[in-house]
Amino acid sequence: MSLLIQNGEIVTPDSRYVADIWCEGETITRIDRAIDPPPGAEVIDATGKYVFPGFIDPHTHIYLPFMGTLARDTYETASRAALVGGTTTFFDMCCPSRAEEPMAGFETWHGRSAGRSACDYSFHMGVTKFDAASEEQLREIVARGVPSFKIFLAYKGAFGIDDGELYRTLKLAKELGVVVCAHCENETLVAERQRELLSAGVTGPEGHYLSRPPEVEAEGVHHFLTFAGLTGARAYIVHLSCDQALREAMAARLRGVDVAVETLIQYLLLDRTYAERGNFEASKYVMSPPLRDAGNQAVLWHALRSGLVQTVATDHAPFDFETQKPMGREDFTKIPNGIPSIEERVNLLYTHGVCAGRLDLQTFVAIGSTNAAKQFGLFPRKGAIQPGADADLVVYDPAYRGTLSRAKQTHAVDYNAFEGWEIKGRPSVVTVRGEVAVRDGKFCGTLGRGKFLMRAGC
Ligand code: URP
Ligand code: ZN
Ligand code: ZN
Repeated sequence: MSLLIQNGEIVTPDSRYVADIWCEGETITRIDRAIDPPPGAEVIDATGKYVFPGFIDPHTHIYLPFMGTLARDTYETASRAALVGGTTTFFDMCCPSRAEEPMAGFETWHGRSAGRSACDYSFHMGVTKFDAASEEQLREIVARGVPSFKIFLAYKGAFGIDDGELYRTLKLAKELGVVVCAHCENETLVAERQRELLSAGVTGPEGHYLSRPPEVEAEGVHHFLTFAGLTGARAYIVHLSCDQALREAMAARLRGVDVAVETLIQYLLLDRTYAERGNFEASKYVMSPPLRDAGNQAVLWHALRSGLVQTVATDHAPFDFETQKPMGREDFTKIPNGIPSIEERVNLLYTHGVCAGRLDLQTFVAIGSTNAAKQFGLFPRKGAIQPGADADLVVYDPAYRGTLSRAKQTHAVDYNAFEGWEIKGRPSVVTVRGEVAVRDGKFCGTLGRGKFLMRAGC
Protein backbone atom coordinates (compact mmCIF):
# COMPACT_ATOMS: atom_id res chain seq x y z
CA MET A 1 0.00 0.00 0.00
CA SER A 2 1.61 3.27 -1.10
CA LEU A 3 0.02 6.65 -1.46
CA LEU A 4 1.18 10.00 -2.79
CA ILE A 5 -0.67 13.19 -1.91
CA GLN A 6 0.51 15.79 -4.36
CA ASN A 7 0.69 19.53 -4.25
CA GLY A 8 -1.47 20.26 -1.21
CA GLU A 9 -0.80 23.04 1.29
CA ILE A 10 0.36 21.21 4.40
CA VAL A 11 -0.77 22.91 7.59
CA THR A 12 0.39 22.04 11.10
CA PRO A 13 0.64 24.28 14.18
CA ASP A 14 4.21 25.18 13.34
CA SER A 15 4.43 25.05 9.56
CA ARG A 16 2.56 25.86 6.39
CA TYR A 17 3.95 25.00 2.94
CA VAL A 18 3.15 23.29 -0.35
CA ALA A 19 4.69 19.83 -0.84
CA ASP A 20 3.99 16.19 -1.67
CA ILE A 21 3.50 13.57 1.03
CA TRP A 22 4.66 10.02 0.36
CA CYS A 23 3.17 7.28 2.51
CA GLU A 24 4.40 3.69 2.56
CA GLY A 25 2.23 1.21 4.36
CA GLU A 26 0.73 2.98 7.35
CA THR A 27 3.35 5.69 7.71
CA ILE A 28 4.46 8.98 6.21
CA THR A 29 7.99 8.34 4.94
CA ARG A 30 8.86 11.43 2.90
CA ILE A 31 7.75 15.02 2.37
CA ASP A 32 9.25 16.83 -0.57
CA ARG A 33 8.60 18.88 -3.68
CA ALA A 34 7.61 16.95 -6.83
CA ILE A 35 7.94 13.34 -5.69
CA ASP A 36 7.62 10.96 -8.67
CA PRO A 37 5.07 8.27 -7.93
CA PRO A 38 6.36 4.74 -8.52
CA PRO A 39 4.09 2.55 -10.69
CA GLY A 40 1.15 1.20 -8.76
CA ALA A 41 1.04 3.95 -6.14
CA GLU A 42 -2.26 5.67 -5.52
CA VAL A 43 -1.99 9.37 -6.31
CA ILE A 44 -4.27 12.06 -4.88
CA ASP A 45 -4.12 15.52 -6.37
CA ALA A 46 -4.50 18.04 -3.55
CA THR A 47 -3.91 21.16 -5.65
CA GLY A 48 -5.85 24.07 -4.16
CA LYS A 49 -6.57 22.10 -1.01
CA TYR A 50 -5.15 21.98 2.48
CA VAL A 51 -3.62 18.86 3.97
CA PHE A 52 -4.15 18.64 7.72
CA PRO A 53 -3.11 15.95 10.19
CA GLY A 54 -6.09 13.74 11.01
CA PHE A 55 -8.28 15.50 13.56
CA ILE A 56 -8.57 14.13 17.08
CA ASP A 57 -11.68 14.24 19.22
CA PRO A 58 -10.48 13.91 22.82
CA HIS A 59 -13.92 13.35 24.36
CA THR A 60 -16.68 11.06 23.07
CA HIS A 61 -19.30 8.67 24.43
CA ILE A 62 -19.79 6.09 21.69
CA TYR A 63 -20.74 3.28 24.01
CA LEU A 64 -22.52 4.71 27.05
CA PRO A 65 -25.16 3.21 29.29
CA PHE A 66 -26.52 6.38 30.90
CA MET A 67 -29.68 7.64 32.59
CA GLY A 68 -31.48 4.37 32.01
CA THR A 69 -30.71 4.09 28.31
CA LEU A 70 -27.87 3.46 25.88
CA ALA A 71 -26.20 5.99 23.59
CA ARG A 72 -27.42 5.47 20.07
CA ASP A 73 -24.18 5.08 18.09
CA THR A 74 -21.93 2.06 17.79
CA TYR A 75 -18.22 2.06 17.03
CA GLU A 76 -19.20 1.30 13.45
CA THR A 77 -21.62 4.20 12.98
CA ALA A 78 -19.61 6.69 15.04
CA SER A 79 -16.26 5.94 13.42
CA ARG A 80 -17.77 6.31 9.95
CA ALA A 81 -19.25 9.63 10.99
CA ALA A 82 -16.00 10.74 12.58
CA LEU A 83 -14.06 10.01 9.41
CA VAL A 84 -16.53 11.73 7.09
CA GLY A 85 -16.07 14.77 9.32
CA GLY A 86 -12.25 14.55 9.25
CA THR A 87 -11.69 12.97 12.68
CA THR A 88 -9.30 10.03 12.48
CA THR A 89 -8.84 9.34 16.19
CA PHE A 90 -11.22 9.66 19.12
CA PHE A 91 -10.98 9.11 22.84
CA ASP A 92 -14.02 7.36 24.23
CA MET A 93 -14.88 7.69 27.90
CA CYS A 94 -14.88 4.24 29.50
CA CYS A 95 -17.51 4.79 32.20
CA PRO A 96 -18.43 1.76 34.32
CA SER A 97 -21.17 2.33 36.87
CA ARG A 98 -20.22 2.50 40.54
CA ALA A 99 -21.55 -1.01 40.98
CA GLU A 100 -19.08 -2.36 38.44
CA GLU A 101 -15.38 -3.12 38.90
CA PRO A 102 -13.08 -0.93 36.76
CA MET A 103 -11.54 -3.93 35.00
CA ALA A 104 -14.96 -5.30 34.10
CA GLY A 105 -15.88 -1.92 32.61
CA PHE A 106 -12.58 -1.75 30.75
CA GLU A 107 -13.20 -5.20 29.25
CA THR A 108 -16.74 -4.21 28.32
CA TRP A 109 -15.52 -1.15 26.40
CA HIS A 110 -12.91 -3.26 24.64
CA GLY A 111 -15.58 -5.81 23.81
CA ARG A 112 -17.82 -3.11 22.33
CA SER A 113 -15.05 -1.57 20.24
CA ALA A 114 -12.66 -4.32 19.17
CA GLY A 115 -12.89 -5.15 15.49
CA ARG A 116 -15.58 -2.54 14.80
CA SER A 117 -14.10 0.91 14.39
CA ALA A 118 -12.92 2.26 11.05
CA CYS A 119 -10.60 4.77 12.73
CA ASP A 120 -8.16 4.56 15.61
CA TYR A 121 -9.27 5.25 19.16
CA SER A 122 -8.25 5.23 22.76
CA PHE A 123 -10.04 5.43 26.11
CA HIS A 124 -9.99 7.65 29.14
CA MET A 125 -10.62 5.36 32.10
CA GLY A 126 -13.56 6.48 34.21
CA VAL A 127 -12.83 6.26 37.94
CA THR A 128 -16.33 5.92 39.28
CA LYS A 129 -15.28 4.59 42.69
CA PHE A 130 -11.99 4.26 44.51
CA ASP A 131 -11.07 1.51 46.96
CA ALA A 132 -8.18 -0.94 47.38
CA ALA A 133 -9.52 -3.37 44.77
CA SER A 134 -10.25 -0.70 42.19
CA GLU A 135 -6.84 0.89 42.78
CA GLU A 136 -5.09 -2.36 41.81
CA GLN A 137 -7.23 -2.63 38.70
CA LEU A 138 -6.58 0.97 37.73
CA ARG A 139 -2.84 0.34 37.93
CA GLU A 140 -3.31 -2.60 35.58
CA ILE A 141 -5.46 -0.54 33.18
CA VAL A 142 -2.81 2.19 33.02
CA ALA A 143 -0.22 -0.50 32.27
CA ARG A 144 -2.50 -1.68 29.46
CA GLY A 145 -2.09 1.61 27.62
CA VAL A 146 -4.59 4.02 29.20
CA PRO A 147 -2.69 6.71 31.11
CA SER A 148 -5.68 9.03 31.53
CA PHE A 149 -8.52 8.92 34.05
CA LYS A 150 -11.95 10.52 33.87
CA ILE A 151 -13.77 11.61 36.99
CA PHE A 152 -17.21 13.14 37.46
CA LEU A 153 -18.06 15.59 40.19
CA ALA A 154 -21.63 15.44 38.87
CA TYR A 155 -23.94 12.42 38.41
CA LYS A 156 -23.67 11.20 42.02
CA GLY A 157 -25.00 7.68 42.39
CA ALA A 158 -24.12 6.90 38.77
CA PHE A 159 -20.55 7.94 37.94
CA GLY A 160 -19.80 10.60 40.57
CA ILE A 161 -17.15 10.13 43.26
CA ASP A 162 -16.84 11.74 46.69
CA ASP A 163 -14.01 13.98 47.86
CA GLY A 164 -12.04 11.20 49.57
CA GLU A 165 -12.14 9.16 46.37
CA LEU A 166 -11.18 12.21 44.35
CA TYR A 167 -8.13 12.86 46.53
CA ARG A 168 -6.96 9.24 46.34
CA THR A 169 -7.54 9.10 42.57
CA LEU A 170 -5.42 12.21 42.07
CA LYS A 171 -2.64 10.84 44.32
CA LEU A 172 -2.56 7.66 42.24
CA ALA A 173 -2.58 9.69 39.04
CA LYS A 174 0.38 11.73 40.24
CA GLU A 175 2.28 8.56 41.11
CA LEU A 176 1.61 6.94 37.73
CA GLY A 177 2.00 10.03 35.52
CA VAL A 178 -1.65 9.91 34.56
CA VAL A 179 -3.65 12.95 33.48
CA VAL A 180 -7.07 13.30 35.16
CA CYS A 181 -9.96 14.59 33.03
CA ALA A 182 -12.79 16.03 35.07
CA HIS A 183 -16.46 16.85 34.60
CA CYS A 184 -16.75 19.82 36.95
CA GLU A 185 -20.18 20.63 38.39
CA ASN A 186 -21.11 20.78 42.06
CA GLU A 187 -23.58 17.92 42.36
CA THR A 188 -25.04 19.05 45.69
CA LEU A 189 -26.02 22.40 44.20
CA VAL A 190 -27.47 20.66 41.14
CA ALA A 191 -29.52 18.26 43.28
CA GLU A 192 -30.85 21.02 45.55
CA ARG A 193 -31.84 23.23 42.64
CA GLN A 194 -33.45 20.33 40.77
CA ARG A 195 -35.58 19.60 43.84
CA GLU A 196 -36.57 23.27 44.21
CA LEU A 197 -37.47 23.61 40.54
CA LEU A 198 -39.51 20.41 40.40
CA SER A 199 -41.44 21.33 43.54
CA ALA A 200 -42.13 24.78 42.03
CA GLY A 201 -43.69 22.99 39.05
CA VAL A 202 -40.81 23.53 36.60
CA THR A 203 -40.68 20.17 34.82
CA GLY A 204 -39.75 21.14 31.23
CA PRO A 205 -36.27 21.13 29.63
CA GLU A 206 -35.59 24.71 30.78
CA GLY A 207 -35.29 23.28 34.30
CA HIS A 208 -32.06 21.67 33.18
CA TYR A 209 -30.10 24.87 32.63
CA LEU A 210 -31.83 26.61 35.55
CA SER A 211 -30.53 23.89 37.84
CA ARG A 212 -26.94 24.23 36.57
CA PRO A 213 -26.01 27.94 36.37
CA PRO A 214 -22.39 29.00 35.69
CA GLU A 215 -21.65 29.19 39.45
CA VAL A 216 -22.26 25.44 39.69
CA GLU A 217 -19.60 24.75 37.07
CA ALA A 218 -17.18 27.38 38.36
CA GLU A 219 -17.37 25.89 41.86
CA GLY A 220 -16.69 22.45 40.35
CA VAL A 221 -13.60 23.71 38.53
CA HIS A 222 -12.33 25.45 41.67
CA HIS A 223 -13.00 22.34 43.75
CA PHE A 224 -11.27 19.94 41.38
CA LEU A 225 -8.27 22.18 40.87
CA THR A 226 -7.82 22.70 44.60
CA PHE A 227 -7.43 18.93 44.90
CA ALA A 228 -5.22 18.76 41.81
CA GLY A 229 -2.99 21.50 43.21
CA LEU A 230 -2.56 19.73 46.56
CA THR A 231 -1.71 16.39 44.96
CA GLY A 232 0.36 17.74 42.05
CA ALA A 233 -1.62 15.67 39.53
CA ARG A 234 -2.00 16.79 35.92
CA ALA A 235 -5.52 18.07 35.37
CA TYR A 236 -7.67 18.42 32.26
CA ILE A 237 -11.06 20.14 32.50
CA VAL A 238 -13.52 18.60 30.04
CA HIS A 239 -16.34 20.53 28.37
CA LEU A 240 -15.73 23.94 29.92
CA SER A 241 -18.66 26.11 28.91
CA CYS A 242 -18.42 29.60 30.37
CA ASP A 243 -16.47 32.64 31.45
CA GLN A 244 -16.84 32.02 35.19
CA ALA A 245 -15.47 28.49 34.97
CA LEU A 246 -12.62 29.64 32.72
CA ARG A 247 -11.60 32.27 35.28
CA GLU A 248 -11.34 29.57 37.96
CA ALA A 249 -9.17 27.44 35.68
CA MET A 250 -6.93 30.39 34.85
CA ALA A 251 -6.61 31.37 38.53
CA ALA A 252 -5.50 27.82 39.32
CA ARG A 253 -3.01 27.88 36.45
CA LEU A 254 -1.58 31.10 37.86
CA ARG A 255 -1.19 29.34 41.23
CA GLY A 256 0.90 26.71 39.45
CA VAL A 257 -1.70 23.97 38.94
CA ASP A 258 -0.91 21.91 35.83
CA VAL A 259 -4.24 22.24 34.04
CA ALA A 260 -5.33 22.04 30.41
CA VAL A 261 -8.82 23.05 29.29
CA GLU A 262 -11.20 21.61 26.71
CA THR A 263 -14.27 23.31 25.36
CA LEU A 264 -16.85 21.92 22.93
CA ILE A 265 -18.03 22.96 19.52
CA GLN A 266 -21.54 23.15 21.00
CA TYR A 267 -20.59 25.86 23.51
CA LEU A 268 -18.84 27.87 20.82
CA LEU A 269 -21.87 27.93 18.53
CA LEU A 270 -25.09 27.10 20.36
CA ASP A 271 -26.44 29.33 23.08
CA ARG A 272 -29.13 29.04 25.72
CA THR A 273 -31.92 29.99 23.31
CA TYR A 274 -31.64 26.51 21.77
CA ALA A 275 -32.36 25.01 25.16
CA GLU A 276 -35.48 27.21 25.37
CA ARG A 277 -37.14 26.01 22.15
CA GLY A 278 -40.77 24.96 22.33
CA ASN A 279 -42.44 21.62 21.59
CA PHE A 280 -39.81 19.78 23.59
CA GLU A 281 -37.28 20.69 20.84
CA ALA A 282 -35.18 22.05 23.71
CA SER A 283 -34.52 18.47 24.82
CA LYS A 284 -32.26 18.03 21.79
CA TYR A 285 -30.05 20.65 23.40
CA VAL A 286 -29.94 19.28 26.94
CA MET A 287 -26.40 18.54 27.98
CA SER A 288 -24.24 19.12 31.05
CA PRO A 289 -22.92 21.70 31.66
CA PRO A 290 -25.83 23.35 29.83
CA LEU A 291 -25.70 25.72 26.87
CA ARG A 292 -24.91 29.22 28.13
CA ASP A 293 -25.80 32.84 27.40
CA ALA A 294 -24.30 33.90 24.07
CA GLY A 295 -21.86 36.30 25.74
CA ASN A 296 -19.72 33.36 26.82
CA GLN A 297 -18.96 32.41 23.23
CA ALA A 298 -16.69 35.38 22.50
CA VAL A 299 -14.77 34.57 25.69
CA LEU A 300 -14.24 30.96 24.61
CA TRP A 301 -13.16 31.90 21.08
CA HIS A 302 -10.71 34.38 22.52
CA ALA A 303 -9.41 31.80 24.97
CA LEU A 304 -8.77 29.38 22.08
CA ARG A 305 -7.08 32.03 19.98
CA SER A 306 -4.80 33.06 22.79
CA GLY A 307 -3.89 29.55 23.95
CA LEU A 308 -5.77 29.61 27.26
CA VAL A 309 -7.98 26.72 26.12
CA GLN A 310 -6.18 23.84 24.44
CA THR A 311 -8.75 21.64 22.72
CA VAL A 312 -12.19 21.60 21.07
CA ALA A 313 -14.00 18.29 21.53
CA THR A 314 -17.55 17.07 20.95
CA ASP A 315 -18.56 15.10 24.05
CA HIS A 316 -20.52 13.21 21.37
CA ALA A 317 -23.35 11.67 23.43
CA PRO A 318 -26.05 10.61 21.00
CA PHE A 319 -29.62 10.07 22.22
CA ASP A 320 -32.62 10.00 19.88
CA PHE A 321 -35.18 12.79 20.00
CA GLU A 322 -38.17 10.54 19.27
CA THR A 323 -37.49 7.69 21.63
CA GLN A 324 -34.90 8.65 24.23
CA LYS A 325 -35.13 12.36 25.07
CA PRO A 326 -38.87 11.88 25.91
CA MET A 327 -37.86 9.79 28.93
CA GLY A 328 -37.74 13.21 30.58
CA ARG A 329 -40.92 14.72 29.12
CA GLU A 330 -42.53 15.08 32.55
CA ASP A 331 -39.30 15.63 34.48
CA PHE A 332 -36.26 17.42 33.03
CA THR A 333 -33.87 15.51 35.31
CA LYS A 334 -34.62 12.37 33.30
CA ILE A 335 -33.78 13.75 29.84
CA PRO A 336 -30.67 11.85 28.63
CA ASN A 337 -27.86 14.41 28.49
CA GLY A 338 -25.91 14.97 25.30
CA ILE A 339 -25.69 16.74 21.94
CA PRO A 340 -24.12 14.67 19.14
CA SER A 341 -21.51 16.35 16.92
CA ILE A 342 -18.68 13.95 16.09
CA GLU A 343 -19.30 14.43 12.36
CA GLU A 344 -19.81 18.20 12.44
CA ARG A 345 -17.03 19.44 14.77
CA VAL A 346 -14.22 20.02 12.28
CA ASN A 347 -16.31 21.62 9.54
CA LEU A 348 -18.05 23.90 12.02
CA LEU A 349 -14.76 24.88 13.62
CA TYR A 350 -13.31 25.65 10.21
CA THR A 351 -16.40 27.57 9.05
CA HIS A 352 -17.03 29.57 12.22
CA GLY A 353 -13.42 29.72 13.36
CA VAL A 354 -11.19 30.10 10.31
CA CYS A 355 -13.64 31.47 7.72
CA ALA A 356 -15.18 33.86 10.24
CA GLY A 357 -11.74 35.26 11.10
CA ARG A 358 -11.78 34.03 14.71
CA LEU A 359 -8.93 31.55 14.30
CA ASP A 360 -5.95 31.29 12.05
CA LEU A 361 -5.47 28.03 10.18
CA GLN A 362 -2.62 26.82 12.35
CA THR A 363 -4.47 27.42 15.61
CA PHE A 364 -7.40 25.52 14.07
CA VAL A 365 -5.11 22.50 13.54
CA ALA A 366 -3.64 22.83 17.02
CA ILE A 367 -6.97 22.88 18.87
CA GLY A 368 -8.63 20.32 16.59
CA SER A 369 -5.79 17.81 16.45
CA THR A 370 -2.22 18.39 17.62
CA ASN A 371 -2.85 19.66 21.15
CA ALA A 372 -4.94 16.59 22.00
CA ALA A 373 -2.19 14.31 20.66
CA LYS A 374 0.34 16.10 22.85
CA GLN A 375 -1.88 16.21 25.90
CA PHE A 376 -2.65 12.50 25.83
CA GLY A 377 0.63 10.94 24.71
CA LEU A 378 0.02 10.33 21.01
CA PHE A 379 2.30 12.97 19.49
CA PRO A 380 4.01 12.77 16.99
CA ARG A 381 2.45 9.47 15.96
CA LYS A 382 -0.83 11.40 15.62
CA GLY A 383 -1.48 15.11 15.22
CA ALA A 384 1.61 15.60 13.02
CA ILE A 385 2.62 15.54 9.36
CA GLN A 386 6.22 14.39 9.34
CA PRO A 387 8.19 11.29 8.39
CA GLY A 388 7.47 8.53 10.89
CA ALA A 389 3.99 9.78 11.77
CA ASP A 390 0.93 7.65 11.05
CA ALA A 391 -0.47 8.52 7.62
CA ASP A 392 -3.72 9.95 9.01
CA LEU A 393 -4.33 12.84 6.65
CA VAL A 394 -7.21 15.11 5.76
CA VAL A 395 -7.23 16.65 2.29
CA TYR A 396 -9.54 19.58 2.93
CA ASP A 397 -11.47 21.38 0.21
CA PRO A 398 -12.01 25.02 1.25
CA ALA A 399 -14.19 25.66 -1.81
CA TYR A 400 -16.90 23.21 -0.75
CA ARG A 401 -20.25 24.68 0.29
CA GLY A 402 -23.01 22.66 1.89
CA THR A 403 -25.51 22.39 4.71
CA LEU A 404 -25.71 20.07 7.68
CA SER A 405 -28.81 17.97 8.06
CA ARG A 406 -30.13 14.79 9.51
CA ALA A 407 -30.85 13.53 5.99
CA LYS A 408 -27.19 13.76 5.01
CA GLN A 409 -25.48 12.81 8.26
CA THR A 410 -23.68 9.54 8.89
CA HIS A 411 -24.11 9.12 12.63
CA ALA A 412 -27.06 7.19 13.93
CA VAL A 413 -29.04 9.77 15.90
CA ASP A 414 -32.48 10.82 14.65
CA TYR A 415 -31.72 14.55 14.62
CA ASN A 416 -28.95 16.96 13.78
CA ALA A 417 -28.36 19.68 16.36
CA PHE A 418 -27.07 21.93 13.56
CA GLU A 419 -29.89 21.28 11.10
CA GLY A 420 -29.67 23.68 8.16
CA TRP A 421 -26.35 25.23 9.21
CA GLU A 422 -24.08 26.13 6.30
CA ILE A 423 -20.54 24.82 6.12
CA LYS A 424 -17.73 26.28 4.08
CA GLY A 425 -15.20 23.53 3.41
CA ARG A 426 -15.08 19.81 4.12
CA PRO A 427 -12.66 16.88 3.90
CA SER A 428 -12.58 15.53 0.36
CA VAL A 429 -10.16 12.71 1.18
CA VAL A 430 -9.37 11.24 4.59
CA THR A 431 -6.78 8.54 5.19
CA VAL A 432 -6.35 6.22 8.14
CA ARG A 433 -2.80 4.91 8.41
CA GLY A 434 -2.32 5.15 4.66
CA GLU A 435 -5.69 3.77 3.54
CA VAL A 436 -8.25 6.09 1.95
CA ALA A 437 -11.32 6.01 4.20
CA VAL A 438 -13.28 8.96 2.77
CA ARG A 439 -13.50 10.11 -0.83
CA ASP A 440 -15.64 13.03 -2.01
CA GLY A 441 -17.20 13.22 1.41
CA LYS A 442 -18.29 9.55 1.38
CA PHE A 443 -17.06 6.81 3.65
CA CYS A 444 -15.10 4.13 1.79
CA GLY A 445 -12.94 2.78 4.61
CA THR A 446 -12.82 -0.54 6.39
CA LEU A 447 -14.85 -1.22 9.50
CA GLY A 448 -12.68 -3.04 11.99
CA ARG A 449 -9.42 -1.62 10.70
CA GLY A 450 -9.30 0.99 13.47
CA LYS A 451 -6.84 0.14 16.23
CA PHE A 452 -6.96 0.65 19.95
CA LEU A 453 -4.00 2.98 20.59
CA MET A 454 -1.70 1.96 23.43
CA ARG A 455 -0.30 5.00 25.22
CA ALA A 456 2.27 5.48 27.96
CA GLY A 457 2.08 7.80 30.98
CA CYS A 458 4.67 10.48 31.61
O1 URP B 1 -24.37 16.11 28.70
C1 URP B 1 -23.36 15.47 28.56
N1 URP B 1 -22.20 16.11 28.62
N2 URP B 1 -23.45 14.16 28.30
C2 URP B 1 -22.46 13.20 28.30
C3 URP B 1 -21.97 12.83 29.65
C4 URP B 1 -21.01 13.85 30.17
O2 URP B 1 -21.32 14.54 31.11
O3 URP B 1 -19.91 13.98 29.63
ZN1 ZN C 1 -19.36 15.36 31.40
ZN1 ZN D 1 -18.60 13.54 28.34
